[in-house]
Amino acid sequence: MEFYDAVNARRSVRQFTDEGITEETLKRIIEAGYSAPANDHFRDWHYIVITDKEIMKRAVNGVPKNLSVRDVDDMTFISDPIQKKSYQIAVPLQYRMLTEAAALIIPLMKKKSDILHPSSLSDLNCYASIWCSIENIWLAATAEGYGCNVRIPLGNEEQIAREALGIPDHFMIPCFIGIGRPREDAAEVKQLDICTQEQIHWNHF
Ligand SMILES: Cc1cc2nc3c(=O)[nH]c(=O)nc-3n(C[C@H](O)[C@H](O)[C@H](O)COP(=O)(O)O)c2cc1C
Repeated sequence: MEFYDAVNARRSVRQFTDEGITEETLKRIIEAGYSAPANDHFRDWHYIVITDKEIMKRAVNGVPKNLSVRDVDDMTFISDPIQKKSYQIAVPLQYRMLTEAAALIIPLMKKKSDILHPSSLSDLNCYASIWCSIENIWLAATAEGYGCNVRIPLGNEEQIAREALGIPDHFMIPCFIGIGRPREDAAEVKQLDICTQEQIHWNHF
């Protein structure tokens, strides 16, 4: 797939077919992540790749399993109707989009600063860098005909994954990634129209 085709085809895929994904393909997709820019030049990210369903379930056991469309109504920060619809699609699928994926990928970044209490923007560089890597993976998966979703671990979700997988303390989990072959009828959220003419500024704001 051409680069701009992959960029424009990338979507959050939360419903998958039963088709598996080979280790070779997973390796190629994740290696694309290591071509991302890195603030400190190290690219010392690790990825745990899980295809065993029982281990996948144990790793994301902290993710809510029974959320419904109605739970989105309680999210008072949502006002835009298109954004609300996207949450109504995504929220009930949080657990299944990870456990029904062909593989669960867990990126790991080294804790190099107190990113939860940053003293400057640069304290977040390691977090920003691994997200560049994650986006490369997302695009590579799309180019290969697969789809991805991401979930940011909330509450004790990170700790549960850490214990289930033996992740050392000096690593943080920026997100969980579900990857697999998109179901033909996989729900697609409507995108907001971005008026690039208004948002791209030439020479001054
Ligand atoms: C930093 C970040 C955090 C996200 N967190 C979640 C999440 O926790 N659960 C989820 O289902 N999607 C999550 N998403 C996916 C967004 O909901 C999604 O990208 C957005 O609605 C646009 O839809 P699209 O990816 O299909 O283009 C996240 C995306 C980003 C970049």
